[in-house]
Amino acid sequence: MAPSNLWIDVSAPWRSARVHGTGRRTGLTFPMNNDADNGAATGGGPGRRRGGHLTDCALLGPGGGAPAGRDGTTDTGPDVLVLGGTGKTGRRVAGRLRAMRLRVRVGSRAAATAPFDWQDPAGWPAVLAGARAVYAAYAPDLSDPAAPERLGALARAAATAGAERLVVLSGRGMSSAARAEESVVAALAGTGTGWTMLRGCWFAQNFSEDFLLPEVLRGTVSLPAGEVAEPFVDLADLADAAVAALTGPGHAGQVYTLTGPRALTFREAVAEIGWAAGREVRYRPMSRSAYLSEMVARGASRAEASAAMGTLRETLDGSCSDPADGVLRAVGRPPRDFSEYVRRTAASGVWDEE
Ligand SMILES: NC(=O)c1ccc[n+]([C@@H]2O[C@H](COP(=O)([O-])OP(=O)(O)OC[C@H]3O[C@@H](n4cnc5c(N)ncnc54)[C@H](OP(=O)(O)O)[C@@H]3O)[C@@H](O)[C@H]2O)c1
Repeated sequence: MAPSNLWIDVSAPWRSARVHGTGRRTGLTFPMNNDADNGAATGGGPGRRRGGHLTDCALLGPGGGAPAGRDGTTDTGPDVLVLGGTGKTGRRVAGRLRAMRLRVRVGSRAAATAPFDWQDPAGWPAVLAGARAVYAAYAPDLSDPAAPERLGALARAAATAGAERLVVLSGRGMSSAARAEESVVAALAGTGTGWTMLRGCWFAQNFSEDFLLPEVLRGTVSLPAGEVAEPFVDLADLADAAVAALTGPGHAGQVYTLTGPRALTFREAVAEIGWAAGREVRYRPMSRSAYLSEMVARGASRAEASAAMGTLRETLDGSCSDPADGVLRAVGRPPRDFSEYVRRTAASGVWDEE
């Protein structure tokens, strides 16, 4: 069964366990798994992007930036602001930008250098000041009814602050994410600030850094997903695409649907994880009504549970099963396979027996 705090303080299924950062296992952190994740230019990392963007990167300062300081922050070159920069996607994006020796500011509620709260627009101009490119991962979740308005307001504030680029983490198949995209596009029309949409499908890292990790560790992953197939995207690829859009040419006005190269059912995904982790993990398909009841029983409000179910219904109805070409278009190489994610995540030990 899922942990007792599952679904508390949630507005969407992948917000529920709040396990990123520290997990149920005391002191457990969720490090990025290896070079593919931490931004070092391996395989298809940002250093080998389409057309060698690093060399003609519009955002690289003269001399290619300065050596990183003790906290990994560099002190020359233009600013890239990473909102949600301590989260699953943002910390990968920030890590890659630092590896490129660009000056990076991480924005989140806990960030010392750029304290940022989506619920406090009055504080946004100070955080945006000086940023030439902005990555925005909305929190708590794109299914939040306030997401379209807040992302639109952020886009206006970014344009007012003089940002040249806004790269938005969106969601494939989510009507709320589509509304958020429209809001950003409308806000930036005629401003001179370019936008790029990263339409992510289900993150592979939901199994290792978010709400599905406790279920993997307990041996049963329950979802109202039936036998629908999902082309899980590896966040190493999503981060590479974000960095390309933040720093390279030709990404303004592009919508990238980011998926893996292969669709798997949750049963197949869980079987791969169990095999690689050397533990028994089974998939338990649930009806939507039973899943919704479980969410409410675990402490979610009816509104939160309904929002979560809306996302599940939209993203797991089979309409998102086809792999898309967003990674190839954004970074010039095919996406990483789910098996690669599973291999390196198993090697990190996050799925080891407690
Ligand atoms: N999981 C999926 O499969 C999936 C698929 C497509 C799209 N998405 C979207 O991805 C987004 C989440 O991105 P993520 O997974 O990279 O993030 P995450 O791991 O959930 O981390 C959340 C980040 O946002 C910050 N944050 C939380 N509340 C905040 C607030 N009120 N104001 C400012 N910052 C706040 C957190 O830092 P602090 O706590 O310090 O503020 C942290 O940096 C959501 O919009 C979700 O809809 C998810």
